[in-house]
Amino acid sequence: MNDTTKEQKIVTIGPDKKRARVYVIIGGCWGDEGKGKVAAFYSANADLVIRATGGANAGHTIYINGKKIALHLVPGGIGNPKAISLIGQGTVIDFDILVNEINELYEYGIEDVMDRLKISGTANVLFPYHKALDKLHEWLRSNKVGTTAKGIGPAYADETTRFGLKVYDLLLPVEELTEKIREVLSLHKPLFSIYNKWWKKEAKMETKRKKKKSASWMFTAEEWTEYMDFFSHPEKLAIKYHEYAKQFSKSIVNGHHLVQSFLTNPEKVIVVEGAQSVCLSLKEGHYPMVTSSDANTLGTLSGAHLSHKDPTEVILIAKGYFSKVGQGIFPTEFESHIGADGKLIAYNKEDAYEGDIYRDENGEYGATTKRPRRTGAFDGVLLKNSVQKSGADYLCINCIDSIGYMGKKYGKIKICYAYDYQGREIDYWPDNINLTCEIPTPKYLTFDGGWEITKAMKTYEDFPTLAKTFIQIIEKITGCQVKYIGVGPKNEDMVIREDL
Ligand code: IMP
Repeated sequence: MNDTTKEQKIVTIGPDKKRARVYVIIGGCWGDEGKGKVAAFYSANADLVIRATGGANAGHTIYINGKKIALHLVPGGIGNPKAISLIGQGTVIDFDILVNEINELYEYGIEDVMDRLKISGTANVLFPYHKALDKLHEWLRSNKVGTTAKGIGPAYADETTRFGLKVYDLLLPVEELTEKIREVLSLHKPLFSIYNKWWKKEAKMETKRKKKKSASWMFTAEEWTEYMDFFSHPEKLAIKYHEYAKQFSKSIVNGHHLVQSFLTNPEKVIVVEGAQSVCLSLKEGHYPMVTSSDANTLGTLSGAHLSHKDPTEVILIAKGYFSKVGQGIFPTEFESHIGADGKLIAYNKEDAYEGDIYRDENGEYGATTKRPRRTGAFDGVLLKNSVQKSGADYLCINCIDSIGYMGKKYGKIKICYAYDYQGREIDYWPDNINLTCEIPTPKYLTFDGGWEITKAMKTYEDFPTLAKTFIQIIEKITGCQVKYIGVGPKNEDMVIREDL
C-alpha cells in the first residue's frame, strides 16, 4: 500500500467552537457609564469573572447581603459564591488597596474570598513610588490630565520600559527583589531630586516671606520623607512586598492556563469586567486625556488572557446623558460650576446651571476620587465611534429613568447626531483637535418633554413612546441595537430586550 491509498486521518485545525460563553463589558464614553450593572447581571451566573485592565483608578459598587461595597481591584464577581474572580494580566495592582478591600470583604461576610480570588502572576505591581510619580508627572505637565493620582500611568510606563515588576517577581528572594526595586528607582531618582530641590527652595522663600505653605506642594513632609527613604532603603519595600506575595501565594496563578480551563468547557460562563472606556483608552481614546491602558475591547481581551475570537457578546455601555471627570474636550457639556482644575466653584443654589443640576440630581461624583463629574447631553457621534472601535454586538443604555425625569424637568431632551467642525458637518471625532484648538459644535435633535419609568414597566414594549423613540434614534445614529436598558440604580433595575 502506498501513501495515497492510506486512509486519511481527519485533523481538526483551529479552536474548538464548543467553548464557554464569554461576555465582555466595555465603557462606551469616558467611564462611569454603569458597567457594574451589566457585569453584576452576568456575574450572577458566571463561573469566572475577570478584571482585565487598569487598577485602583476604577471603582464599582456592588451589593453584598444587601450592603453596599465599593470595589477598586477585586472583580465584582466576588459577590457570587460560585464564581472564581481573576485579576488579569492587564492590570496594575496596588497591594495596599487590595489588602484593604479583602479585609472589607471579610467584614461583609465573604469568608472564602481568598479561595475564590486569583491573581495573574503576570499582572503588574504598582508600588507607592508610582503614586508619587503620578503627582510629579502632573506637576511637570502644562496641560494637566487630571489623573486619579493612583499611580496608574507611571506603573504602566515601567512595564513599557521593562523596568516594571510583575506579581511573580515578588516571590523572588528578598535580596533579588531589592535589586530589581533599586534598579527601577534609579530610573526615577532624577525627577524626585528635581522636585526635592524645587520645594526646598520654595519653602525657604516662603519662610522668608512669612507665608503659609504653598498649595502647590503636593506632599506632606511625612509622605515626602517616606518616598525619599525608598532610594536609600529599597529593601524596606522588598520585604513588605515579598510578604504580600507570600500572603497571596495560593492566589497567584498562571492566568492563561486558568482562563483556558474555563474557556474549553461549553458549560461555563466567563464575564470580563472592562475598566474605564473606549474614549479613555490609551490606544483609541482622546489622547493625551486618557488612562494608560488599552481599555477598548482588544486591550481588555488581552488583559483578560483572551483572544479576539473568544467573546460571545461585546456589550458597550453608555448613559442617557454623558459625564466626564478630569480634563479634556466634551462637546456636549452643559454649563456648570466646575472650574478648570476640576473642582467645584462655590455657588448659590438659585444660580445652579444645567450641569450642576444634572450632577446633583443623578449623584455624579467619582466613586474612587469623589470628584464632581462634568455632565452633558447624549453624544451620538461619540458613541457611534465607540461602537465602531470596540466591535460592540449590543449597546446597554443606562439611566433611561433619569434622562426621562430630566426631560420632564427641563421640557426637552437633546441627542447630538453630528458635529460642525472646521466649517463642515462630520460624524467622527476629529483627531487634530489639539492642533486646531477648536471644539466640535454639536448638532442636536431635540425632543419635547420627558417620561417616567415606573416599576410596572417590565419590558421594552411597556415603555412610554418617547422613551422608545429615544432608544430607536440611538440605534439609528450608532448602527447598534440597544439590548440592555438600565431603569434604576439597583443591579436588578435592567430591562433586557428578549426580541434581540
Ligand atoms: P488615570 O487613569 O488615573 O491615569 O487618569 C487618566 C484619566 O482617566 C483622568 O481623566 C481620569 O479622570 C480618567 N479616569 C481614570 N479612571 C476612570 C474611571 O474609572 N472613571 C472615569 N474616569 C476615569
